[in-house]
Amino acid sequence: MSLDIPVTDAPATQTPSPKRDKPTMPDAQTVTAVKHWNDRLFSFRVTRPASLRFRSGEFVMIGLPGDNGKPILRAYSIASPNWDDELEFYSIKVPDGPLTSKLQHIKEGDQIILRPKPVGTLVLDALLPGKRLWFLATGTGLAPFASLMRDPDSYERFEQVIMMHTCRTADELNYGRELVEKLREDPLLAEMYGEDFHERLLYYPTTTREDSPRMGRITDNLTSGKVFADLGLPKITAEDDRAMICGSLAFNVDVKAVLEGFGLREGANSEPKEFVVEKAFVGDGI
Ligand SMILES: Cc1cc2nc3c(=O)[nH]c(=O)nc-3n(C[C@H](O)[C@H](O)[C@H](O)COP(=O)(O)OP(=O)(O)OC[C@H]3O[C@@H](n4cnc5c(N)ncnc54)[C@H](O)[C@@H]3O)c2cc1C
Ligand SMILES: NC(=O)c1ccc[n+]([C@@H]2O[C@H](COP(=O)([O-])OP(=O)(O)OC[C@H]3O[C@@H](n4cnc5c(N)ncnc54)[C@H](OP(=O)(O)O)[C@@H]3O)[C@@H](O)[C@H]2O)c1
Repeated sequence: MSLDIPVTDAPATQTPSPKRDKPTMPDAQTVTAVKHWNDRLFSFRVTRPASLRFRSGEFVMIGLPGDNGKPILRAYSIASPNWDDELEFYSIKVPDGPLTSKLQHIKEGDQIILRPKPVGTLVLDALLPGKRLWFLATGTGLAPFASLMRDPDSYERFEQVIMMHTCRTADELNYGRELVEKLREDPLLAEMYGEDFHERLLYYPTTTREDSPRMGRITDNLTSGKVFADLGLPKITAEDDRAMICGSLAFNVDVKAVLEGFGLREGANSEPKEFVVEKAFVGDGI
């Protein structure tokens, strides 16, 4: 089941006090770091509200005050794991996008709005136990998996985690690539899960519109069996494999059909099965 999040500009819940120099922002958090990956993508970290509890893979509403004083809020997957002291986000820069045309200019020390009500379907509890866990993402759909890949619970529940990430160009893969490479060499994870931890977290990045060592859509690499041959894994089965999908609506629909072809069924928080789906964004295109 995927969630339909209304992309609305929510009304302000608090009006600025004329007595103060700066208007008070409800649910304000402070930006602690920003990194631009290219002219389309950036990541940033913010302080974490002391009371915020979430399951890795969930999303929250974040935003900035609009010119009319009303906050512009959008759904964002939390890219950091639930044990992290701060919150990390991985964002697109939509030209003329109501939120991201402003958000892309945030700097350390700035404030953003964060509504502390995490929700979402991409959580480990929505899957039945299995051997291998597949994360299937395009573009910023990697964000919830950036959280889940850093959550030890993923490795407690599954023997292997496989991150398949596809973008049009190679530079769009860099946030995910850096994160996975660091994790695969993390001494703490090697201590917890053994020296061969790098074999428990497999990475399969591909591009579709620029030459790179690995090419092709996730759907094609699954149906042709190329990814199984390249990684030395058996074909996906309903008995051993579980999956989480996050990309555009078209991607989600096509991957869902591929997984159903392997015999997997879509689950939900209330009814765990073999795979779960969530949209990485609403809309047809920029
Ligand atoms: C459950 C959920 C989780 C999300 N998590 C993230 C996240 O972690 N990171 C993130 O960058 N965005 C995420 N989004 C999208 C996000 O909510 C906003 O749409 C995005 O920040 C752009 O906001 P905007 O106001 O600038 O433009 P909008 O008016 O919201 O979007 C304008 C158009 O840009 C395109 N677009 C929007 N977001 C994306 C995207 N991420 N990738 C490619 N095209 C896009 C769509 O075609 C959309 O119609 C998520 C959306 C949903 C529903
Ligand atoms: N990324 C860019 O450089 C760029 C630049 C300007 C504007 N935009 C616009 O921004 C929007 C989002 O772009 P995006 O690149 O983040 O997302 P996207 O268009 O969804 O593409 C991301 C990746 O997913 C693949 N993909 C798309 N649909 C699929 C499907 N049904 N099944 C399997 N794989 C699928 C694409 O392969 P294919 O390449 O084979 O489609 C691409 O590798 C698009 O509407 C696009 O027009 C993107």
